[in-house]
Amino acid sequence: MKKILITGGAGYIGSHTAVELINGGFEPIILDDLSNSEEKVLGRLEEIVGKKLIFYKGDCNDPAILDQIGKEHELAGVIHFAAYKAVGESTALPLKYYKNNIGSLLVLLEFMQKQEIKDIVFSSSCTVYGQPDHLPVTESTPRKEAESPYGNTKKVCEDILVDFVKSKQGIRVISLRYFNPVGAHPSGKIGELPLGTPSNLVPFVTQTAAGIREKLTVFGDDYDTPDGSCVRDFIHVMDLADAHVKALSFLESKEDDYYEVFNVGSGNGNTVLEVIETFEKVNGLKLNYQIGPRRPGDVVKIWADTKKINQVLGWSPQNSLADSMRDSWNWQKSL
Ligand code: NAD
Ligand code: WQD
Repeated sequence: MKKILITGGAGYIGSHTAVELINGGFEPIILDDLSNSEEKVLGRLEEIVGKKLIFYKGDCNDPAILDQIGKEHELAGVIHFAAYKAVGESTALPLKYYKNNIGSLLVLLEFMQKQEIKDIVFSSSCTVYGQPDHLPVTESTPRKEAESPYGNTKKVCEDILVDFVKSKQGIRVISLRYFNPVGAHPSGKIGELPLGTPSNLVPFVTQTAAGIREKLTVFGDDYDTPDGSCVRDFIHVMDLADAHVKALSFLESKEDDYYEVFNVGSGNGNTVLEVIETFEKVNGLKLNYQIGPRRPGDVVKIWADTKKINQVLGWSPQNSLADSMRDSWNWQKSL
C-alpha cells in the first residue's frame, strides 16, 4: 500500500480524507500538532476503518519530525492540510498565520525535495476569488486581492507551489480550491470540531438546534440574491475527501514538473435561508433564528464551475445539501 503523509490529518477535512484514502487503497500517515483537533479523533478513525492508524503528534514546521517520518516510512505523496484557518483571528494575529501556513509549506517542500517525494495535494480555498465579477467561478477566474491574512496565505502558498514546479525539481502538484465544506462521516464518529463559538454557518446551525446556542442570526436578507441572504457552494466533506484520493491517483500518472488547480464544490449556489430550510426539513426540526445585519466583509454570492474536476479527475459529488445537513446533525447529536 502506498503511504501518504497527511499533515493536519486529525482535523476536520484531514480525518475524513484519511478514511477515503484507506478506502482507495492508500495508507495514511498522520502528522498533527493537535492545535485545532483532539487526539480522540484517532480512536474514532480507527473504529471507522477497523485498523490501527499511524499517527505522529508534531508540528509540520519541525524538520526533525518530518525526517523521523521519512526514515520510518517510504512516502509516495503528501496531502498538506495543516494550517490555521480562523479568518478573523488572522486579521488580529497575521504573523501567526503567515508563520504557520506559509512556513509549514516551505519546510514540507524541502523535506519532499530531500526525500525525493514527488506528489503533493495542497488545501487551497475559494477565498482566493474574493467576490468574483462573473459566476460561477472557473479556475481561470482571476484571483482577487485577499481580504484577510488567512486568505493571503492561500494565495501565497499557491504561488510558492507554482514557482517550485517551475524550478523543475520533478515535483507534481495539485491545489484544490475548496468551497464550503459541510457534513460529516455518516457514522457520526468524526466531524467538524469548532473551538469556542463557531463563526461558520453550519456548526452554528447544529449547535443552535442542540440548544448550545440560543439562536442563529442570519447575516443579512437584503442582498441581491433569490431570497436576500448570501449564496455559497456547500460541499459534503466526504466528497471533498474523495477529491483528494482522485487527485493523488491522477498525479501518479502525470509527467514531472506538473501543476494544476481544481475547484472542489457542488457546482450549485444555495442561500443561507435554503440551508436552514433544508436542515429543518431533513431533520424534522424547527431552528430558532432571526434576521440580523450584514456581516462586514462577507462575499455576497459565490459558487463553483466544476467542469474541470469532473472532466480531468472524473470526480463529481455524490451527496446533496440534504445529505450534508442530515450528517452534520447526526454528528452534532453524537457529541
Ligand atoms: P482543521 O483546523 O480542522 O484541521 C487542520 C489541522 O491541522 C488541525 O487538526 C490542526 O491541529 C492541524 N495543524 C495546524 N497547524 C499545524 C502544524 N503546524 N503542524 C501540524 N498540524 C497542524 O481545518 P480543516 O477545516 O480541516 O482545514 C484543513 C485545510 O483546508 C486547511 O489548510 C484550511 O485552510 C483549508 N480549508 C478549509 C476550509 C474550511 O472551510 N474548513 C475551506 C477551504 C480551505
Ligand atoms: C457562510 C454564510 C454568512 C454564520 C469562510 C471563510 C473562507 C472559507 C470558508 C477557508 C455567509 C452566513 C454565517 C452565522 C450567517 N474558509 N452566516 N450566520 O463566509 O463562506 O467563508 O469559511 O478557506 O475563507 O471566510 O463561510 O460559514 O462563515 O458563512 O448568516 O452565524 O453564512 O454571512 O453568508 P464563508 P461561513
